[in-house]
Order: sequence, then C-alpha cells, then structure tokens
Amino acid sequence: MINDWIESDNAQVFVIESPELNQFNHKLKEEILRVGDCQFRRSNVKAQMTNWNMFEESDVFVEFSFWALKVFENLPFIGGSYHPLKFTISNLWGMIYREGDHAIGHCHMPYFYSFVHYVECTENAPPLLFTKSQYEVQCKTGSTVFFPSHLTHSVSELKKDDLRIAVSGNVSCIN
Ligand SMILES: [Fe+2]
Repeated sequence: MINDWIESDNAQVFVIESPELNQFNHKLKEEILRVGDCQFRRSNVKAQMTNWNMFEESDVFVEFSFWALKVFENLPFIGGSYHPLKFTISNLWGMIYREGDHAIGHCHMPYFYSFVHYVECTENAPPLLFTKSQYEVQCKTGSTVFFPSHLTHSVSELKKDDLRIAVSGNVSCIN
C-alpha cells in the first residue's frame, strides 16, 4: 500500500492493490458497459458515465460499496486509527474513458474522502493528477486510490487505444 502525505496539500492519499477483486472487476466492467452513458458529458468527467448512485440499482455496485467502506474504515490515518466516527458511501458511479476523453479539474467537496478504483486500464492510460501538488497516481488495473475530497484533480486526454474503466465514489461522515 502507498500511504503518502502530500505536504503542499496537507493531505493523506492511499493507494491499495486488491488481487482478491480480480474476478469481481469483470462483473463491474460488464455492469458499467451494460448501463452505458447516463450523463452525456455534462459533469466534469468528459467520458461515459453511469448514474451517480449505482448502489441503488445494481447488486454488483452494492457489493463493491461494502468492500470500499470496509477498506476505508481500516486505512491507517495520521493521528491514529482510533476515532468515534462512522462513515457511509454517499455516491458510487462507473466511467469508461476512451480516446479523447478526459476529466477537467474538479474536487468532490463537501464530501470527506473520495476514491477511484481502476476496473480495467491500458498500460499508458493517463494518471490521476492532483493539480496543486502535481502528485500523480498511475492508472493500474485493480488498484484503488483514496484521497481527501477537497483535492482538485484531473485526468488528461486519453490517446488512441487507451482505455480507462473506473468506479468512483464519495465517503461521508455520519456522526
Ligand atoms: Fe473526481
């Protein structure tokens, strides 16, 4: 696991790899392909994107939201792991980026933490870029990035034959 403190952003970013999700990623991919584009590039994601709350309509996404919440709750936050907070997954959506697709700089305020899980990516697909610090997380099938929701991030344009299928979501504190 990568557990980095980005000094200029005063923020802790985690990247985890989860080989146990290899089979599950195929189901996520099938579901994202089945649902197709529901946003018509009206969000900051200029790529195919599902509805914002896929856990309301898809068992695969419900299962993934349970997994993501469990992983998040066990991350080693600076300040110690003991705290009285409880969390929930507030949104969960799927994306397919192909040639020319990109994400313009944006953040996920007012949520607490956000994440990107790479369901399937080609080797040279562009990284997730945190624009202030210029900190990059490479796009790697099976890995998941957790980052504070206030961090502005972007994805540059995909080139020919690039593919980036991902699931993203937001985490909220509920007490
Ligand atoms: Fe985002």
